Amino acid sequence: MLLSLMLVSVCLVGCGEIPEMKFASHPRVDELMPPAQEVVKSTIDKHFGEPDAIVAWSKLPVEFGMLEGEVTEIKDGAKDGQKTLTVELDETEVDLQGDTLEFYREDEETGEDVADFLRVLSYDAESGTLVASGENFPEEESEIFVGGHGLKDGQRLYMKHCLHCHGVTGDGDGPTANYLNPKPRDFRLGLFKYKSTDYAEKPSHADLMRTLDEGIAGTYMPSFKLLEEDEKKAIVEYVRWLSMRGEIEKRLIDFFEAEFSILAWEETQEEGEEAMEGLKLDFQDIVVEELPFELDAVASQIGRKWELADDESSLVKPTVARVADTQESRLRGQKYYVSSKCITCHGPLGYGDGSETETYKTDPLTNVTYSEPGLYDAWGTLVKPRNLRLGQFRGGRRPIDVFRRIKGGIPGTPMQAFSTSLKDEEIWDVVNYVLSLPHSDPAVEINQRANLETTDTSKSSLAGSEGE
Ligand code: HEC
Ligand code: HEC
Repeated sequence: MLLSLMLVSVCLVGCGEIPEMKFASHPRVDELMPPAQEVVKSTIDKHFGEPDAIVAWSKLPVEFGMLEGEVTEIKDGAKDGQKTLTVELDETEVDLQGDTLEFYREDEETGEDVADFLRVLSYDAESGTLVASGENFPEEESEIFVGGHGLKDGQRLYMKHCLHCHGVTGDGDGPTANYLNPKPRDFRLGLFKYKSTDYAEKPSHADLMRTLDEGIAGTYMPSFKLLEEDEKKAIVEYVRWLSMRGEIEKRLIDFFEAEFSILAWEETQEEGEEAMEGLKLDFQDIVVEELPFELDAVASQIGRKWELADDESSLVKPTVARVADTQESRLRGQKYYVSSKCITCHGPLGYGDGSETETYKTDPLTNVTYSEPGLYDAWGTLVKPRNLRLGQFRGGRRPIDVFRRIKGGIPGTPMQAFSTSLKDEEIWDVVNYVLSLPHSDPAVEINQRANLETTDTSKSSLAGSEGE
């Protein structure tokens, strides 16, 4: 496995197999009727751009690293749709090639300010001239912004260190991904497992930094401790942005899905031309009258969530100090482990072999029963409850980390938060119990267990199996 991983990484550099640097649309876009596919694609493209021309959408709480400036001269370019601009920027020693220029002009019909974007094809820092392409161009003396200039650093580093696993689009589908279990995270659902914030909240900047510093123990997610602090910060910003892009795309697909699916399109086609015209008109109405508000609402909501993640109030904080790690506390913890049904997943002795791993589940999206028994995560992959006897904790092994995993749950997986069913002092008892498992003797525990009431009725055997 390691060897094949290395081969693929070597090939990425050596064999010219660099994946195409374009964002991929979510496969669910194809389930919409063709005009809706176009609208979703063009809307996402307009507000996010492509990897080589990032758009800085000011609606999002992302450190885009904006530069400001003014256009002093504008001349026709060598080709249609291109012009040569002379610009004065607030920073001079920058490379703008591949950047996106933004400027605002008044819309003739509505009188409102609209943003236009130009792509910088080449830049000469000495003379301050650049060749840009686009549809609309600014006038001389117009104010301009360079969008996403700071994010470009994060992107360059992401392409170098993360892309082969997490993919250009952050869909977890880089060229190495197929060899890995668990798979690299698909950031597009906006779900993150190992964080210090409440179940429903996004990870904070500090959480993502921590994931980069520590990696994820027991998986192929490596540690990037050796990168510079500002390099890691730039990568974190890029990951947040990719995740926002994916989640907003998903919400737009949801918006159109009910009425404007490819199925509705095909059915209407059979009904004849008149019905088809009706459907197209309905669609146009929604695009003009409702989509702008929907997009605004979705972007604000998702943006606010990411902002809130850095707020004190989102942090999972114990209200009581850690309960002393005594034999009594561990025994109480063992009792809660049983009464809180941890055992249905993690098994009577913590080997990760509870009854839930043997039952057949159905995919909540399609209602189809999975072919393999066990638990599935939000990405539709089989996920094993952790073998708690191995002492490997992906979200960190400090008592506070395990406390947060139990109180805040593991989003995207079947492990829910226990913040309402267990009090904080009880969670500490469970933490003490869980942390004792790698060092305790299962035989002794079977004896102790005889005195405890078992709630895992479908599984009578207390014997666990070694290994994960
Ligand atoms: C060799 C493959 C590999 C590389 C390279 C890699 N990752 Fe990962 N990453 C993974 C895997 C696998 C997981 C999922 C682990 C899990 O589900 O427990 C993951 C998970 C993550 C998560 C999710 C953490 C959470 O709380 O859910 C983040 C964020 C992340 N990686 C960021 C990065 C960044 C940024 C880089 C580059 C600097 C990177 N990864 C490079 C394999 C990789
Ligand atoms: C519905 C099933 C389910 C229940 C109930 C459940 N868990 Fe989990 N738990 C999981 C799964 C699945 C994972 C692995 C998630 C992953 O790797 O993506 C996990 C992971 C863990 C981890 C590993 C965290 C880490 O950092 O690696 C701990 C610790 C844990 N569970 C403890 C508990 C405790 C204690 C309880 C009861 C209070 C409990 N779990 C209840 C399914 C469950």
